[in-house]
Amino acid sequence: MPVLYDFLIAIVAFLAFELVSSNCGVSTTWESKTIFESNQDILVCSHIKNKYSHSSCEKELQPPAVSMTTSLALVPFDESRVLPHEKTVREFKLAGHLFTIKQDWNTLGVAAVVWDSAVVLAEFLVKNEALVKGKNVLELGAGTGLTGMVAATLGANVTVTEREEAISHLRATIDLNSADKSWEISAAKLDWTHPEDHSNFPTPDVIIGADVIYIEETFQDLLRTILSLAKSNRTQILLSCKIRYDRDLHFLSLLQNHFQINEVFYDTHRDIKIFSVVRSS
Ligand SMILES: C[S@@+](CC[C@H](N)C(=O)[O-])C[C@H]1O[C@@H](n2cnc3c(N)ncnc32)[C@H](O)[C@@H]1O
Repeated sequence: MPVLYDFLIAIVAFLAFELVSSNCGVSTTWESKTIFESNQDILVCSHIKNKYSHSSCEKELQPPAVSMTTSLALVPFDESRVLPHEKTVREFKLAGHLFTIKQDWNTLGVAAVVWDSAVVLAEFLVKNEALVKGKNVLELGAGTGLTGMVAATLGANVTVTEREEAISHLRATIDLNSADKSWEISAAKLDWTHPEDHSNFPTPDVIIGADVIYIEETFQDLLRTILSLAKSNRTQILLSCKIRYDRDLHFLSLLQNHFQINEVFYDTHRDIKIFSVVRSS
C-alpha cells in the first residue's frame, strides 16, 4: 500500500508539472521507473529542461515539489541518455561553420531530425569539395538541409527540396544558420509523388540525397523523380544510405536499370555507404 500511495503522489505531481510547463510553452520529458533500493521501491522521475523553447516562459521551471519523506526521488536528467533523434537541438561543425539544427521528431518525424547519412555525406563533400564547388546542386528529401547547407558553404549553388509538410521547418533551419550568409541556398517543394513538381527545376549538375532510400512505397516515385531530373550522364547523383533492409538493396537494383552505380565511400563506424550514380544511357 505505501508504494501505491507514493505512486499516486508521483502521478499527481507529474500531471501538475505537465500543466504548468505546457502553459509556459516549454516541452518537458519525463521518465519514471521503479528501482529497488534499501528494501524500498522508489519511483524515479528525470526532468529535462528544454533550454531552447524557454524564451516563452518567464520563470525558471522547477521540478515538482514532492516531499522526500515519501519514497519518491527526483534525479537530474542525464543528457547523454537521450537518443540523437530525440534531442531538440544539435550542433555540427563542418566546413569551418557551426550549424545549429533544431529537431522536432514529435511533430514532423523523419524530416525534422538529422540522420547519420546526412552527416556522412556532408563530411564526404567537405573532403571532396570539387564535386560541388561552383555547381548547381539539388538535394532531394533534404530534411533539415544540413548536407545542402554544407554544399552551399563549399561554393555550390544549392536548392534543397522537401515535401510540403517539411518545407517550413527546412526554411527556418536555413534562416537560423544563414544570418551572416555568404553562401547561396534556396528551399523549394519537390514531392516525389507529384510529377508536376519535377518540371520546376532545371537539370542540376549534381543531385544529392541522404537517407532517402527508406520506404519501399516511395521507391517508384523516387526513381521517377531522379530519372526526370537527371536526363543525361552530365548529372552526377550522390546518395548516402544506411542499408537497413533487403528492400533498400531493391531500390539500388531498380536504379541499376538506368544508371551506373559505384560505391565511393563506406563509413564503417556508422555503417553508411555513399553511391555515385550516373545515367548509363
Ligand atoms: C530519413 S529522412 C532523411 C532526411 C535528411 N536527408 C537527412 O538525412 O537528415 C527522409 C526524407 O525524405 C523525405 N521524403 C519522404 N517522402 C518524400 C516525398 N514523397 N517527396 C519528397 N521528400 C520525401 C522526408 O520528408 C524526409 O525528410
